Amino acid sequence: MNIENIRKDFPILDKKINGRPIVYFDNACVTLKPKQVTEAMRGYYEDYTSCAGRSAHKFGKRVTEEVLKSRKTLQRFVGAKNEKEIVFTRNTTEAINLVANCLNLEKGSAVLNSDKEHNSNLVPWQFLEKRIGIKHEILQGNDDGTFKLDKFEERMSLGNVKLVAMVHISNLDGATNPIKEITKIAHDAGALVLVDAAQAMPHKEIDVRKLNVDFMAFSGHKMLGPSGIGALYAKYHLLDEMSPFMVGGDTVVDTTYHSAQLEKPPEKFEAGLQDYAGIIGFAAAAEYLTKIGKENICKHETSLNRKISEEISSINQLKIIGPKAAEERSGIISFNIGKKNPHDIALMLDSVHNIMIRSGAHCVNSWFNAHNLSGSARASLYLYNTVEETNIFVDSLKKLSNVI
Ligand SMILES: Cc1ncc(COP(=O)(O)O)c(C=O)c1O
Repeated sequence: MNIENIRKDFPILDKKINGRPIVYFDNACVTLKPKQVTEAMRGYYEDYTSCAGRSAHKFGKRVTEEVLKSRKTLQRFVGAKNEKEIVFTRNTTEAINLVANCLNLEKGSAVLNSDKEHNSNLVPWQFLEKRIGIKHEILQGNDDGTFKLDKFEERMSLGNVKLVAMVHISNLDGATNPIKEITKIAHDAGALVLVDAAQAMPHKEIDVRKLNVDFMAFSGHKMLGPSGIGALYAKYHLLDEMSPFMVGGDTVVDTTYHSAQLEKPPEKFEAGLQDYAGIIGFAAAAEYLTKIGKENICKHETSLNRKISEEISSINQLKIIGPKAAEERSGIISFNIGKKNPHDIALMLDSVHNIMIRSGAHCVNSWFNAHNLSGSARASLYLYNTVEETNIFVDSLKKLSNVI
């Protein structure tokens, strides 16, 4: 993997603010975009703007073809059997809400979350608990943020769990849940599995068939693609059985004043005119990542994470959240320095050194509340980050830890 060449694809990395380069370490929130993605989107807006599946003219046909091509690219990207198993959504949140609202869960059925879910994979189940009386349960993890497989197996053996809704890689600490094992145990107990892969998809080789998951949600903006586009992978028979919760144009084949004949999946779930430029940019991002190879990306991030984790460990009272080994934290270093306010750390790094990280509860408020913490500072790495940038980060953090 040639970082120099990769960085040339990201014009934003040449930016200087107040004469200094930028260090972008907020990739778990939103990643930067390569030229290949913005060019593909520009093509839609400047060369063939139209809509898919409706107009028979040349632009219309081209958009229809590009959307189908993009769906097939994403199908290959996740290892799905059929492109009809890819439903375009606005993001991971919408994909999870789609499952929550269409799966027809019944009163009394249990949905099981881990204790480190993003609000997007927590609140939809809390709402279903209030609305229809599902039982929403939380499975506690180990103190180092890893998954308790034995406790999970124990809970599943008690029965009544209809859906296991689990994050794959946590955006809080980077820990990876063993989805293959979780799925096997869940299926043996008669439950379906929904995976929140918002953080896993950009970094980890994913094959939905090997994992055998039933649903997987992910977002474009975390994997070099545009914001406002995401996808739900689902086994076709499940999509076929589910009724859409958002209906209207494009979800139906025909209507009378009093009836509607629904489209087949995935179209029956894609209501209204879609974000075509977003879909095309999303596929361009998937192609870009495939070309570089996620295994290479993972190796690169891990080596940077290891270096940072070792070098900042000498800072007085600094504590990294999650597994001890950097290898088990993907590209994420989530930390606190004693009682220092994480927002002050992030603001100082940005204002003095143009180092962009995130601070706060990272939308995992429930975990921070349960642990009596206000939040953390989080640096998150990706394929274009360099050793030089980690040096700037470590030096700056060491200096500012003495003054705030
Ligand atoms: C693990 C995880 N799940 C879900 C989400 C929500 O993603 P989106 O805002 O794209 O719906 C995020 C975003 O930070 C995330 O990190």
